[in-house]
Amino acid sequence: MHATISSIGIYHPLKEIKNSYFEEFLETTDQWIKERTGIENRYYALENEYTSDLCVKAVEALVKNHTTNLQEVDFIIVATSTPDQTLPSVASRVQTRMNIPHAGCIDISAACGGFVYGIILAKGLIAAGTHRKIIVTGAETLSKVTDFTDRSSCILFGDGAGAVIVEASSENHLLKVITDTDGSYGKDLYLSNKNIPINGKPVIPDNNIHQNGRVVFKWAVSTLTKKIEELVSKNGITLEDIDYFIPHSANMRILETVCKELGIPMEKCLESIKNYGNTSAASIPLAWYNGITSGRIKPNDKLLLIGFGGGLTCAGICLQNNIEMK
Ligand code: UT7
Repeated sequence: MHATISSIGIYHPLKEIKNSYFEEFLETTDQWIKERTGIENRYYALENEYTSDLCVKAVEALVKNHTTNLQEVDFIIVATSTPDQTLPSVASRVQTRMNIPHAGCIDISAACGGFVYGIILAKGLIAAGTHRKIIVTGAETLSKVTDFTDRSSCILFGDGAGAVIVEASSENHLLKVITDTDGSYGKDLYLSNKNIPINGKPVIPDNNIHQNGRVVFKWAVSTLTKKIEELVSKNGITLEDIDYFIPHSANMRILETVCKELGIPMEKCLESIKNYGNTSAASIPLAWYNGITSGRIKPNDKLLLIGFGGGLTCAGICLQNNIEMK
């Protein structure tokens, strides 16, 4: 059985955080943040607003945007590094709050690659014939695990959520995929919630994200450049055949460098970094949604989605866009 994606919804919390917010307590400037990252704005969840709340709002938006029967959903995958709690899963919270009977539920942890990993898993379940209609969400409340004393990381992160439905179809819209990981970089990007060394490096459990920005930047550029080429060639197409590239929005300069190296015009690269910051697992659905609602992405356009981040890990898929807004 083949699979397609024909519905999408997004949500971002309402508390808007401009770059000037950081000028009040850190040695930084709006200009530095814009020039070095491309970020102008991001949103933070309220103190009592959690990842499951954002997921539920994204699924509600999906239902408003499209005609779909949630009662038919038989599996829910939530990609997140910031679950409300480890147990119960965020997916189970979504299941009960959206009143979806009997769905299988899992959270997956693949950081900024999580949304694409979720789509790949959903595609596999449908191909296996065990499930037919699967919600995949990428959602984060990174503001809750941000070290506001670290100017090189705290300016990056934002909160948000995106949800799609992957469903069985006679047409093959979800094409070939790639996945890759180099766990030796685990110490270069991690959430320190336990006093357990990573690759031999001691960790202070302050429950914040820590990253070696320069190392991750270099890895991201070389990995994306290689993996995008590998993915198109695996699909038997060329870079020119792709209408829009949607890489994880970690830093505008990463996207610009990769596009330059591959000769991809920047107009074909969709981002969510400028308005939302780095929202990890949510960044790709946010950019996809904006690409559709701004009229750039059309039905049947060929898209290349590629997520990358903590692991360090990477996942990509080529797909034919089957989403149309009401
Ligand atoms: O989403 C998962 C994957 N994550 C990524 O892909 C992130 C990859 N890394 C990055 O995006 C960038 O490395 C950062 C945005 C994190 C940092 O940008 P950078 O251009 O790599 O800066 P840097 O760490 O090389 O620092 C350059 C200078 C340093 O000053 P000195 O040592 O040259 O005097 C920093 O202290 O910029 C300084 N700096 C800042 N200055 C003003 C770092 N952060 C700031 C800041 N404001 N917020």
